[in-house]
Amino acid sequence: MPRSGASLFLLPWKFSENVNEMAELKVQLASDAYPIEINHGCLRDCAEKIALLCPAAKYAVITDSTVAKLYASRLLAALDQAGLTAHMFPIQPGETRKNLATIGALAERLALAGFDRHDALIALGGGVVGDITGFLASIYMRGIPFVQVPTTLLAQVDSSIGGKTGVDIEAGKNLIGTFNQPKAVFIDPTTLQSLPTEEMQSGLAEVLKYGLIRDSVFFDYLIARREDIIHQDAAALTDSIAACCRIKAEVVMADEREGDLRRILNFGHTLGHAVEIASRYSLSHGFAVSIGMMAAARLSEHRRLLSAAEREKIHEALTAYQLPTEIPAELDRDRIRFYLKTDKKNVGGQPVFVLLRGIGQAEMHADVGEEEISALLARSK
Ligand SMILES: NC(=O)c1ccc[n+]([C@@H]2O[C@H](COP(=O)([O-])OP(=O)(O)OC[C@H]3O[C@@H](n4cnc5c(N)ncnc54)[C@H](O)[C@@H]3O)[C@@H](O)[C@H]2O)c1
Ligand SMILES: [Zn+2]
Repeated sequence: MPRSGASLFLLPWKFSENVNEMAELKVQLASDAYPIEINHGCLRDCAEKIALLCPAAKYAVITDSTVAKLYASRLLAALDQAGLTAHMFPIQPGETRKNLATIGALAERLALAGFDRHDALIALGGGVVGDITGFLASIYMRGIPFVQVPTTLLAQVDSSIGGKTGVDIEAGKNLIGTFNQPKAVFIDPTTLQSLPTEEMQSGLAEVLKYGLIRDSVFFDYLIARREDIIHQDAAALTDSIAACCRIKAEVVMADEREGDLRRILNFGHTLGHAVEIASRYSLSHGFAVSIGMMAAARLSEHRRLLSAAEREKIHEALTAYQLPTEIPAELDRDRIRFYLKTDKKNVGGQPVFVLLRGIGQAEMHADVGEEEISALLARSK
């Protein structure tokens, strides 16, 4: 049960610019440890490391048809050159495929191709492919190892790290899933060059989130280096992705199974999710989260946790990254309120908001009342 305003203990760590085009981190869990490598071009030279960190008789590369066209041949050639046997299993792209039918179909295809307990999976793609692959890896033949090779910014800074896997059912998103950690994560930021602008922006909302909840120095860096980051300067992008991975890994290491601490990653997501669903997903996840982060900043100011200047700084940063900060006027406020009240992360029917005690420090508040919620929804109506 989250305590209101509970203070969170994490080892101190502050962002510092690295100017390298590669970074390596380690996720150290009670039961497991695995590396995250961030390296321009690592898609071409991760094969030997895969053999070492995730040894297997053969590998199934799970990907979607869009990513397959762009990057599968590069990875398959690298695996082949390293003397590894690999087969590609493409699925159709999109969230609508993240379901049990896809899991069943992939399991059938793997079995027909002779994949067994000596083999391993490689997730090449965005969060959809990563979540599907991680889930399949935890149940195929009662569990086989897998590696993450994320190709969207959201997957590189969020979904590929932390071990949450899952699929959607009619009743809701991510309702079936497991905790299953990969053997390694290989992040090649050059894959982002082909990412559609809106997907990139959506990921950038999550990047800004990490600075806001955990590291004001990193947040200032994101403001200062915005042009470089948007234009995918190699060092700025590597530094930023590494900072996000480090923060996510740090939170996951401290709280592997979603206790209070891991909830700080939900900053902007309480209202964001409700807005996303109320828009019938016409708003991208990142855009909805950006709106939710601004709302949480306003609520933090209202509760005197955040100064007006800090709230304004957040507004300017989101706007500079061309992210929305207001709930679209046409969205039905009652629908948003309904989804806010029925969110699966609520505690005792009450939405839990992550608020900021200054930029870089997050805390949970489970006591946000009707009036405060109405004030958030009333804005720019
Ligand atoms: N497991 C977790 O902890 C976690 C955390 C956050 C989100 N998620 C999940 O992640 C999913 C969203 O992930 P996403 O935003 O990566 O979506 P996605 O996987 O659907 O990818 C978005 C689109 O980009 C395309 N694409 C991927 N890489 C590309 C590239 N390099 N160039 C061009 N196109 C490319 C894909 O084909 C797809 O059409 C959701 O299902 C969400 O629930 C999971
Ligand atoms: Zn998110």
